[in-house]
Amino acid sequence: MTVQQSKSPTELEFGPRRPEFDIDDLLASDWHGGSAFRTAWFNALSMLFPLGEKFFIESVVAFRDRIEDPRLLGEIASFQAQESVHRLKHQRYNERLCQLRGYDLPSFEGPLRKRMAWAYRELSARRRLAGTTANEHLTAIMADDMLRNRDCFVGVDSRIADLWRWHGVEETEHKSVAFDVHAAVGGTIGERRMALLLNTFYFFKDSFRITRAMLRHDGKLWSLRVWASGINYLFIKPGVLRRIARPYFRFFRKGFHPWEQDNRNLIAEWETQRQTDSRIAESP
Ligand SMILES: [Fe+2]
Ligand SMILES: [Fe+2]
Repeated sequence: MTVQQSKSPTELEFGPRRPEFDIDDLLASDWHGGSAFRTAWFNALSMLFPLGEKFFIESVVAFRDRIEDPRLLGEIASFQAQESVHRLKHQRYNERLCQLRGYDLPSFEGPLRKRMAWAYRELSARRRLAGTTANEHLTAIMADDMLRNRDCFVGVDSRIADLWRWHGVEETEHKSVAFDVHAAVGGTIGERRMALLLNTFYFFKDSFRITRAMLRHDGKLWSLRVWASGINYLFIKPGVLRRIARPYFRFFRKGFHPWEQDNRNLIAEWETQRQTDSRIAESP
């Protein structure tokens, strides 16, 4: 009898999509409703993905041989496939963005490369996997907020909002894969809690460092108005980071599982919207 190591909803099925996003002209501009801060914030997040997602894939795949549940093995393959496409799309996004705006890509990625080298040197494979469960929690709760609330992308061209929502949908679909693998190979809640604390610190350190560097390059670093609007967006209205505080802390609770909040409805709504959009695009 095979053990059931996947704890995702039994009807859940997912795999990679390969959408195309024609966004080059948008990347040259303050595409997030003309806001320098919001644009730099999202562009900074994009900078974290190619290296981060490479690390996530490697940390999960390292344990594939120790998984018996065929369903979880299938989810690992889908996780790997989805994250690989995310890496590719964001790598292209980042290269094009830096080309168009004159940003220095290696200076954004340098500290991430160093930290990952440190993690490979100093941490066990299971600790690195715990780090991935923490980062997948962060991406899953941000994705949930983004898909649930239209106010995240007010004034944003749908072509680039689509890219972020597509990524958000796939983060939702595979949100429990790293978690279930970590639990299946004997990973402890203590390891995951510690990893979330550490990775939250680094997430904010990296995202604000890159946001600041972009604003400095654009000559907007010392604009009080730019920072006031940014703080407002993140913490007050709509307060996209304030809103995820409650789901964030659930991760520390005993017995937590990423699917205890079943938000498959957000995936279904996005699919329906996408089909409607493509029908409209196809009609003469
Ligand atoms: Fe991703
Ligand atoms: Fe992910």
